[in-house]
Amino acid sequence: MQEKSHEPFYDCNENKSSKKFRFWDFSIIGTILSFLGIVYLLNQRYLSIPETISSQCPTVQKLVPENNAELSNIDQFHSNVYSNYSLKVWSDAVRIPTLNWDDLGKVGDDSRWEIFEDFANYLVKTFTVVTSNSKLEKVNTYGLVFTIEGSNKSLKPILLAGHQDVVPVPDETADRWTYPPFEGHFDGKFLWGRGSSDCKNNVIGIFEALDELLKRGFKPKRTIIVALGFDEETSGNQGATAINEFLIKKYGEKSIFMIVDEGGLGIQDIYGSRFALPSTGEKGYIDVVIDLITTGGHSSVPPRHTGIGIIAELVKEIEDKEYDLDLTPKNPYFYQLQCEAENAKAMDKAFKKDILKLSSNVAAKKRVLDVLRADDTTKALISTTQAIDIIFGGLKINALPEKVTVKINHRVGYDSSLVDVHSKITDAVAKVAKKFSLNANVFGRRIVTNSESEAYFNVTDDSPLSPAPLTFPYGNPTWDILGGTIKHVFEDFASFEGYDPSVSREVTVAPSCMTGNTDTRHYWDLSDNIYRFTPIRQDMRLNAHAIDERVALDAHIEGVVFYYELIRNADAFSG
Ligand SMILES: *[C@@H]1O[C@H](CO)[C@@H](O)[C@H](O)[C@H]1NC(C)=O
Ligand SMILES: *[C@@H]1O[C@H](CO)[C@@H](O)[C@H](O)[C@H]1NC(C)=O
Ligand SMILES: *[C@@H]1O[C@H](CO)[C@@H](O)[C@H](O)[C@H]1NC(C)=O
Ligand SMILES: [Zn+2]
Repeated sequence: MQEKSHEPFYDCNENKSSKKFRFWDFSIIGTILSFLGIVYLLNQRYLSIPETISSQCPTVQKLVPENNAELSNIDQFHSNVYSNYSLKVWSDAVRIPTLNWDDLGKVGDDSRWEIFEDFANYLVKTFTVVTSNSKLEKVNTYGLVFTIEGSNKSLKPILLAGHQDVVPVPDETADRWTYPPFEGHFDGKFLWGRGSSDCKNNVIGIFEALDELLKRGFKPKRTIIVALGFDEETSGNQGATAINEFLIKKYGEKSIFMIVDEGGLGIQDIYGSRFALPSTGEKGYIDVVIDLITTGGHSSVPPRHTGIGIIAELVKEIEDKEYDLDLTPKNPYFYQLQCEAENAKAMDKAFKKDILKLSSNVAAKKRVLDVLRADDTTKALISTTQAIDIIFGGLKINALPEKVTVKINHRVGYDSSLVDVHSKITDAVAKVAKKFSLNANVFGRRIVTNSESEAYFNVTDDSPLSPAPLTFPYGNPTWDILGGTIKHVFEDFASFEGYDPSVSREVTVAPSCMTGNTDTRHYWDLSDNIYRFTPIRQDMRLNAHAIDERVALDAHIEGVVFYYELIRNADAFSG
């Protein structure tokens, strides 16, 4: 796992130049003093940049693709003919139950994967223009990599990503759906079904856009890759992992111009203004497994505390102490908040002022953090979270438990690290082990020894992942292309049916932070420019991963047009 930090230009407040003046020479002291004076004044100016309004929200300009007789007319996406076509290809995709179960075995060993072959065949026979203009390579059987060669090999390819799998529908909840989850029911506004929102709308939207472009004679200069994983919902260990290896081998590290995958926070009205929130980063992840092994025995002569009692004390110790909160420019959410403060019409004035002074005024920062702490959603964006999700121990009502296990899921914040999680767990286990005179092995180290006791803690971690490298939004043409396309489509194309008419149509594009992970967790080596963005209004995309998942058809089509224009804008850029 790699960790990388991009220092925003205004975060540099060290007076580096003063180091040159360590050697005092009394004969030129006057010169030096006046020089230092200038350095000081320049530095004051420099430090004042964070307080200027334009510097902390990476604003983008609308980007309309250059005029082209065959390609520029996007009105037909508003037609009933197109809507009917789009609904057909998208709902047929939802009808293929590409379920991803937690206990699926390896590809080839477990026959439940075979449905993914149907999905691949469906794409190939439905989007015939893409099929005949691209090369399809199958990676680890069900990973799909479609390549449309560009004419100019010195332009780095653009990678559009998505996943074919969907989370299962548990039997207990299947009959609570308003319409069966794999029927592909359309009620005149919404397409209902598992995967309609996460993320067959993205996958099919990409194919609809490409098919239409190629049908109209589009000949890309920049190679276009569409890469579809098949086990994103169980961490992408067989799908995106293999696709990454395949692409690294074929193109090399940092060979991709930009990656656009699912995710982000869509288009939303916040404090009376409209925002688009692609994610330029995602939090890290780590599970911690704590076993407490004790000598059992008959429960008629119990010790003062059984293994369960001791674990209970440890759980309390861990839950009572939350991780620190902080918000700095390392975290994409910092920029989202700045953009909200600068652009939201109806945000509380005092809160707005504090946000704008977040990186320069300690008292303002404290007030902002207090507001964010009060809400679980914003708190999760600015800290590492811990969730004690699994506990088991004890087998029989008259026997002392011999093994008790607790599992804790963490999402690692941008102003924190995996090391913080390790050290917090280590401290808590050490404290409880000492109190109860036990032994403790924590992350491979013996940290507490009590030789008279046979009981011990055994603490291990699983799936550690640092927060994703931040895609830097300043002076980055890929950010300008992505954001400029979003502004164009959601300001110029959208029908505005169902949008709040009291909110201005102007869209502010702001970086955002994901608390969960996508397949892009496996793609860090391919590009520095990774965006997670499902191009859709958040309120037209309901119940992902839940009962009655559904997406509005006109919102889906706005997404198709986003991909259509994004591909053209990325193709027109010559870098
Ligand atoms: C679109 O589909 C609807 C419902 O099936 C149908 O009534 C309508 O005639 C179709 N419109 C076009 C232009 O094909
Ligand atoms: C500690 O837990 C790990 C992971 O479950 C296991 O592989 C290891 O054998 C355990 N060690 C001891 C001493 O119980
Ligand atoms: C290919 O792209 C590079 C980089 O923008 C450019 O310098 C070159 O002129 C292009 N070649 C052609 C044939 O257009
Ligand atoms: Zn997804």
